[in-house]
Amino acid sequence: MLDNINPTTTQAWKALQAHFEAQKEVQLSELFAADADRFNRFSIEFNEQILLDYSKNLITEETMQHLLALAKETKLDSAIKAMFSGEKINQTEGRSVLHTALRNRSNTPVMVDGEDVMPAVNAVLEKMQGFCEKIHSGEWKGYTGKAIESIVNIGIGGSDLGPVMITEALGAYKIEHINTYFVSNVDGTHIAETLKQVDPETTLFLVASKTFTTQETMTNAHSARDWFLAAAGDQAHVAKHFAALSTNASAVAEFGIDTDNMFEFWDWVGGRYSSWSAIGLSIALTVGYDNFIELLEGAHAMDQHFASAELAENLPVILALLGIWYNNFYGAESVSILPYDQYMHRFAAYFQQGDMESNGKNVDRNGKPVDYQTGPIIWGEPGTNGQHAFYQLIHQGTKLIPCDFIAPANSHNPLSDHHAKLMSNFFAQTEALAFGKSRETVEAELVAAGKSADEIAKLAPFKVFTGNKPTNSILVKKITPYSLGAMVAMYEHKIFVQGIIWNIFSFDQWGVELGKQLANQILPELKDKTAVNSHDSSTNGLINTFKAWS
Ligand code: F6P
Repeated sequence: MLDNINPTTTQAWKALQAHFEAQKEVQLSELFAADADRFNRFSIEFNEQILLDYSKNLITEETMQHLLALAKETKLDSAIKAMFSGEKINQTEGRSVLHTALRNRSNTPVMVDGEDVMPAVNAVLEKMQGFCEKIHSGEWKGYTGKAIESIVNIGIGGSDLGPVMITEALGAYKIEHINTYFVSNVDGTHIAETLKQVDPETTLFLVASKTFTTQETMTNAHSARDWFLAAAGDQAHVAKHFAALSTNASAVAEFGIDTDNMFEFWDWVGGRYSSWSAIGLSIALTVGYDNFIELLEGAHAMDQHFASAELAENLPVILALLGIWYNNFYGAESVSILPYDQYMHRFAAYFQQGDMESNGKNVDRNGKPVDYQTGPIIWGEPGTNGQHAFYQLIHQGTKLIPCDFIAPANSHNPLSDHHAKLMSNFFAQTEALAFGKSRETVEAELVAAGKSADEIAKLAPFKVFTGNKPTNSILVKKITPYSLGAMVAMYEHKIFVQGIIWNIFSFDQWGVELGKQLANQILPELKDKTAVNSHDSSTNGLINTFKAWS
């Protein structure tokens, strides 16, 4: 069981509040000027793969001491142990939280209800390996005897976003003769446009759903099966073209998928933490099973770091504490994740679910409304594109937006000077955000450009950058399966740490249920032309106009 401590009642929280009042005007330029060693003091390297430089944050040694004290007072240490050891810390669903067991490459026993889960984890991995070998070698044949060329993963949320993000991020590792597609939206356009690109004779559908009841996924899966059977004719051919990734064997069988073609996982794997499970089959099929294992290895290395490093040297803990500093003391509402790597273009979208579905909670572990801020809004796009879209607001807008800048030191595509240009932007942005441009510098530049005193007075205010905008820089040696696995696990554990400190339950998602319930009530009302009047006037008006127009 997790402890139940309102963070705002701790000594550390009070100390942080006083500390914030005393130093809220502090300038990064002053902090850097006062300490030549600031980069070394506030940076951590992980396994010669990832460097976190958090020196461009609005912090001092004292800030970090108070934040670390907060982690200790809210019993982070025992929460970490509880998660790794399989305690049922997802208390509202009565489940353990063991995505770490899925990537437990040390294979040490992990007990749930008195049983070691590792043999089952390893058995599914072995089955995935055998399946990948058959697909990749062409031994697995479709109903007309042709090898599989296209994989269509049908899933949504955690059964989609992770595989999409990871297969994109590992684009440099793609197996050439396999094309992977992802269908998630219940909008028929998604499946229809995908099916235009594939051939029933050479396509394998992966129906990815933890529950195997999700409306979007089941609707898309039925449409895919209808499309397939329209070509293949015989129901018996489904076995060669449909596999299921699920915890729900009976629903899989009911759908008509042979349970031999089912890759199992368990209720202790949260949807948004499931890419490491059988849900990762599309990843293994796209980049190769060995690369999938490397992904798990990287995540496992981060797990070991998280479980054993001192809090002050612990990457996920430091990231989480900095987030709390801005979220709860500076009043920042969002965090921007900005990968300077085109392959990682879905990374922020992935962590929108990871973070916002986990920590978007307004009730604490007592079931009482919280009177402090919890999870932030997560957003972001790859650099340098974002620079030409929304960075203006980060630099000169009125909102404080802490940003994580992520970039690889080595590119998979070292064309001419592209990477140097990309990286020069990566370095320039955090420097500009931290130090800005003073009125004096602006005026000197305008003088040098030959402007009159009058023009300078008019223009200067618009050209000043106040700076003092906090950023983390995460420099990765190269985006490999290993480093990506480590980075994803780092963010997962950051989310966990924040949830522990905010005294919320991070592993349920009741907030997505109401919309689903109402949609199920409304669906039958859309099937005829009779006017509805059972809702509020807005919903009635919209539904009735839809009925009239459709
Ligand atoms: O959006 C709610 C949710 O339950 C997510 O947590 C989950 O990842 C997604 O739906 C899909 O669920 P399933 O894998 O059961 O189809």
